[in-house]
Amino acid sequence: MTFPKNFMWGGATSAEQIEGAYLDDGKLTSTADMMTLAENSHPREITSKIEKDKFYPSHVAIDYYHHYAEDIKLFAEMGFNSYRFSIAWSRIFPHGDDETPNKKGLDFYDKVVDLCTSYGIEPVVTIQHFDTPMGLKKYDFWDSRKTMEFYVKYAETLFKYFKGRVKYWLTFNEINNMSTMPWNAGGISLDATIETKERAAYYQLLASAKAVKIAHEIDSQNKVGMMYNGHFSYAATCDPKDVLGNYAFQKKMLFYSDVQARGYYPNYKLKELEREHIKLPFEENDEEALKQGKVDFISFSYYLTHVCGQKTNGVVKGLQGLETGYSNPYLTKSNWGWPIDPKGLRYGLNMLFDRYQLPLMIVENGLGAVDHLEDDGSIHDSYRIAYIKAHLLELEKAIDIDGVPVLGYMSWAPVDLVAASTGQMKKRYGYIYVDLDDHGHGTFKRSKKDSFYWYQKIIETNGQYLHRKLEWEKD
Ligand code: BG6
Repeated sequence: MTFPKNFMWGGATSAEQIEGAYLDDGKLTSTADMMTLAENSHPREITSKIEKDKFYPSHVAIDYYHHYAEDIKLFAEMGFNSYRFSIAWSRIFPHGDDETPNKKGLDFYDKVVDLCTSYGIEPVVTIQHFDTPMGLKKYDFWDSRKTMEFYVKYAETLFKYFKGRVKYWLTFNEINNMSTMPWNAGGISLDATIETKERAAYYQLLASAKAVKIAHEIDSQNKVGMMYNGHFSYAATCDPKDVLGNYAFQKKMLFYSDVQARGYYPNYKLKELEREHIKLPFEENDEEALKQGKVDFISFSYYLTHVCGQKTNGVVKGLQGLETGYSNPYLTKSNWGWPIDPKGLRYGLNMLFDRYQLPLMIVENGLGAVDHLEDDGSIHDSYRIAYIKAHLLELEKAIDIDGVPVLGYMSWAPVDLVAASTGQMKKRYGYIYVDLDDHGHGTFKRSKKDSFYWYQKIIETNGQYLHRKLEWEKD
């Protein structure tokens, strides 16, 4: 068994979870900068302005803005040949609707892209990852055609500026989060009406399609992908009612990728909108724009699987939509209650490829866990190695046995960063430890965990090292 030649091995991050420097060099606030740390089992609060006595993790994050060179050097040392990161819209167009881009914002990503290239690391750029500029509040964020137009201008600016240097683009991180995490997805409040969320989703889908077309026109070498939050699910029982309940859930999630890959709203969605008396703001040429903006590949994040059935009713709640009404007795869970299901990755890869017949890219997968720093500075994160290893073995089967074309694997995240759901630092994903606590205290010092050296071996051997039994593994 082997991974394809030129397989993209790397890691993934997002701007607001690493950069910090939230008002540096002309940047202004984004929706992510209004989210506090979740404390005492309360979810993250979203404030309308920055309040002095509250802690906003994105403001400093892991200060990558000033440590990017050190971090990318460490990625290169692990052998990365690809790195997925996002560009903060509010660095490039600080208000979102500015006439001209902010030169200093472009300068920063210039340095990041050039540094990656100098190490032979292919940048995979997410254009929007959970951070709509707050300046777009006056247009109701994504509940607006104007915002769609500003996004297209922003995307076009990036395609032109990075022409020939960035080839892989993702239009929106986890676009299907509009139903479960609308604030992150597009500045839409959680209690907004379904109609508002559907409209915002429509504008994002249109924005994505327009961006894809422009990217292809600017450079025919550009490859633009959609990015799906991998909500794969199993039916609770073989009772046909549960099977249909599960199918309803899957369609709720897959509708976004259906539009982005096929170029039109599927019948089941049009019927649903009709039943709900929701009228989308269709305009002349929109239909054509959706058709012309089909993506080149499907990328997705994968952390867990769901169990769904008649109780789910297509509706899920929570960051990872964990509240489906069922749980899976066959799976163990992470410290944060996320079911761990490596085989579900193989299932998801097969399902997505069957459905779209497009190349796939895994752009997030990893374990959020509490790490312990030993006195000598080492971190023995065998649980993380075990998690990634189990998933990679299933990925290998999907490629080798099932014939699924997979372009690459970018794990979340190569370096510890601020968790999106809670704002915590202690939910660590990295191969690289960052000395920082939940409240922003620490030296920001980076150190290598055991998983750093293990992942390095995996990349060096193009996956062969996966079959090496590790000291602590049971027979
Ligand atoms: C994905 C997001 O949904 O999940 C990432 O794209 C996020 O931004 C990741 O970090 C893991 O979630 P969390 O809450 O553990 O950071």
